[in-house]
Amino acid sequence: MATPLVIDTDPGIDDALAILLALASPEVDLRLVTTVHGNVELAQTTDNALRVLHLAGRSDVPVAAGARDSLVYRQPERAGHVHGETGLGGVRLAASPAAPDPRPAVVSLAEVLLAAEAPVTVAAIGPWTNVALLLATYPEAAERIGRLVLMGGSAARGGNVTAAAEFNVWADPEAAQRVLGSGVPTVLVGLDVTLPTVLDDDGIARFAAAGPVGATAAAILQQYVDHARTSYGTSGVVLHDALALTEAIVPGTLGTVRRDVVVDTTLGAGRGQTLVDRRAVSDSPTAVEVAETVDSAAAVEFLVGRIEALARSAG
Ligand code: BDR
Ligand code: CA
Repeated sequence: MATPLVIDTDPGIDDALAILLALASPEVDLRLVTTVHGNVELAQTTDNALRVLHLAGRSDVPVAAGARDSLVYRQPERAGHVHGETGLGGVRLAASPAAPDPRPAVVSLAEVLLAAEAPVTVAAIGPWTNVALLLATYPEAAERIGRLVLMGGSAARGGNVTAAAEFNVWADPEAAQRVLGSGVPTVLVGLDVTLPTVLDDDGIARFAAAGPVGATAAAILQQYVDHARTSYGTSGVVLHDALALTEAIVPGTLGTVRRDVVVDTTLGAGRGQTLVDRRAVSDSPTAVEVAETVDSAAAVEFLVGRIEALARSAG
């Protein structure tokens, strides 16, 4: 039986790719997409999620809008310079015939969790505000999470938005601390494994050639490719969110070690840093599985093959 899956997301270019990967994967059954502030404003991430699902012919998957801001301190900075003003590069996808779910994301999420016949995998690939709200408001529903796969943080790589902090944690450090201390079975997929996992031009060209859905996915990625080239002098697309989804789809893709992790929630230069205690394997009930090793070539091949297959089947 396919594992029930919810994606909590802020599309976002790599979020869009991650959603397509989930739709291309028979191991999981995508029951709900919840949206959150992050790369762009909430209204835009919600609209983008609807449009990406529609692109793949899956406007039947409900989309529920969640938190429009972080829990404690307002964080108005977005990442339009990375993802384009609309969050999907310069690409304007066709509007979905579906409207957003009228319920707030935490309500939809709780209902999906409580109704599921099996433990649900939740992949949170934007700031973790919605997950923190779920833990606080529906703890009985949160107990139905079989695996929480979080994209965010960094153990040894420093940050990508400040010297210390990775974007998803930096965007809501208090939520991140709440989520990482929850005791829900968690895999933390941070920059240590995502930064080496880069989709190059050849991989993009393969799914671009497989059909219009693949070509559109490639067009969305172009903004990311251009930003990496002009800002960092690097080529290709770092697969942050898609790698987290790969771990959600195929548990054990990443090599993990159980570690204690706390988040810097001070207002100083370290705000948003994930402090991963790598001195020892932890037996604490609130420790999380920190992804430390990855076969990046295999992960990229997995993604390209799945998006190719999705594009072919969509025609
Ligand atoms: C994370 O930040 C966002 O910009 C990406 O979508 C990803 O979720 C990487 O730090
Ligand atoms: Ca994201």
